[in-house]
Amino acid sequence: MGLAAIAYDCPMLLLTRTVRFCLGEAPDELTSARHNTFAAWPSMSGLGRYYEIEVRCVGEADPRTGYFLDIREIDEAVRGGAIPLIAAAIRSDPAVDPWSLLAPLFAAVNDRVGGRTRELTWRLTPFHSVSLEEHSMPRCIVRQHFEFAASHRLNCADLSPQENRRLFGKCNNDAGHGHNYRVEVAVLIDPASPRPFHLGTLEAVVNRTIVDRFDHRYLNVDCPEFAHVNPSVENIARISHDLLKPALAQAGLNLRAVTIWETDKTCCTYPAE
Ligand code: NI
Repeated sequence: MGLAAIAYDCPMLLLTRTVRFCLGEAPDELTSARHNTFAAWPSMSGLGRYYEIEVRCVGEADPRTGYFLDIREIDEAVRGGAIPLIAAAIRSDPAVDPWSLLAPLFAAVNDRVGGRTRELTWRLTPFHSVSLEEHSMPRCIVRQHFEFAASHRLNCADLSPQENRRLFGKCNNDAGHGHNYRVEVAVLIDPASPRPFHLGTLEAVVNRTIVDRFDHRYLNVDCPEFAHVNPSVENIARISHDLLKPALAQAGLNLRAVTIWETDKTCCTYPAE
């Protein structure tokens, strides 16, 4: 008996594939790979560079096979289209701004996967990435991570102690508790703008506006932003966004979203992307 055809209520799928690679001393290997290893291929050699490219594709799955796109096609699109462009840029212009390469990287991959690419993200470090989305071109998204340590207590003054305890559990304990918060700030930039983007500008504004304000503070007591606002991760994301939006605008930067991780397992992005 053959496989049953599956009918999807919504036919469109978003498929995400990550390709990890190192650019070191073996450029010949770039085009000979037919596999996508967990820990990067080509693997590290000498003082190489480690990168990740994440490709998101949209389309319909074949009702019988369940395949929308063979992930090997994406791997080969990245390895045959994008990685050689990055390797060439490292050789010819290692000081180039990475976001200026995104449009040709996107086009090289997209041509090879039949125009089905929705978004391409190039992770330059585990904490810093640049992305191009089909619907926001030619602007691209630069993301950088930050951290602060702070304590908080979840409590609503207009609720009874019993209600607060029921709602927030141990997060309502009188003395509060701490988190190492991670912050991701995403800004939209235009690579063709006559005003060049500098990551250092973004970092300076975020450090001044968020990290210096919240780091090693008891948010409920030390930070007036939370005097009448429960410092949930949702509210920390929203308030961080509202503080950063004008501060970044003053520096000529367009904030898209802020994500706050309270733990490795919980994060909130504002506004929803
Ligand atoms: Ni907490």
